[in-house]
Amino acid sequence: MPAISRGEVSYITGAASGIGRALASMLVGQGGLVVIADLNGEAAAGYAAELNEKAGTVVAISVKADTTVWEDQLAGFQQATTAFKRIDYVFANAGIAEHPWLPPFNPETAAERPLVKPDLATASINLTGQLYTASLAFQTFERQDIGPEGFRGKLILTASVFGYFPSRAMPLYAASKAGIINFMRSAAQYYADKHITVNAISPNLVDTPIAPDVLFVPFRERKLLSDLQLVLDQFGKVLGESTLNGQALSISQENVWVHPADTYMLEKNGPACDLISVEIFKLFGDRTN
Ligand SMILES: NC(=O)c1ccc[n+]([C@@H]2O[C@H](COP(=O)([O-])OP(=O)(O)OC[C@H]3O[C@@H](n4cnc5c(N)ncnc54)[C@H](O)[C@@H]3O)[C@@H](O)[C@H]2O)c1
Repeated sequence: MPAISRGEVSYITGAASGIGRALASMLVGQGGLVVIADLNGEAAAGYAAELNEKAGTVVAISVKADTTVWEDQLAGFQQATTAFKRIDYVFANAGIAEHPWLPPFNPETAAERPLVKPDLATASINLTGQLYTASLAFQTFERQDIGPEGFRGKLILTASVFGYFPSRAMPLYAASKAGIINFMRSAAQYYADKHITVNAISPNLVDTPIAPDVLFVPFRERKLLSDLQLVLDQFGKVLGESTLNGQALSISQENVWVHPADTYMLEKNGPACDLISVEIFKLFGDRTN
């Protein structure tokens, strides 16, 4: 069963490779139009041309955009709305694997080394970049009518199981993905009555070019990889007429589940948390309750 209606438009960041690329292919296969946005402009253009040639008509355009650069992302969304008039789905998907933020821990040589500024590339791409995409999604949806399925638009963020589980080797990746998960849950509450849904797809390790092939070898041997098709199926569950909102659809090997929000001590915290929203809205002049 197709998840989307014919002619619906998807904007996908990081769509020249891996999960985003497979997602674009799935959506075009269902009669959709796609914007292939990627830092690698050549690969994005090549992939859009390939999709168009296969379809025999224009089903894809490409955008060269670094998601960490606001101007790039703004230009990408403007290019997309000029070409396709409307964007039904935005997939904030571009991301990288952990890029070490500090030199390896070594007390023996530490005193001889200068204190260094951390490399925050992982957080910049996986958190800030996705937030730029999200901000453009919401502002685009706000400016378009409610579609036949009852929505102005849907935002889907690619998170990870490391949005909930700590990782001693990937602190910035885990921090970014946890940030995306709680951003998703918070934004979903805000947009719930505005005909906009916000969800996240959170896979464990999937065999893609995100890391050198050698990294995947022991996972293949131990059958610890997650199936790409199962990941695509989870994206499908939040599209079209689906009313799912604020959910983290998770995948690990052959297991799929909706990861619950943390409710520990919420009963005690609830009244203060609710009142904070009311008072903050007053300060910001937002008319939302
Ligand atoms: N592969 C996995 O195991 C896995 C697991 C969980 C989550 N994810 C997440 O899925 C998403 C996609 O990963 P993938 O596995 O398909 O990786 P991938 O490397 O195959 O594809 C990522 C794409 O994003 C692009 N990209 C990177 N930085 C960018 C930037 N600053 N601006 C624009 N484009 C940029 C790359 O050029 C590439 O085409 C990421 O957010 C990743 O964290 C991946």
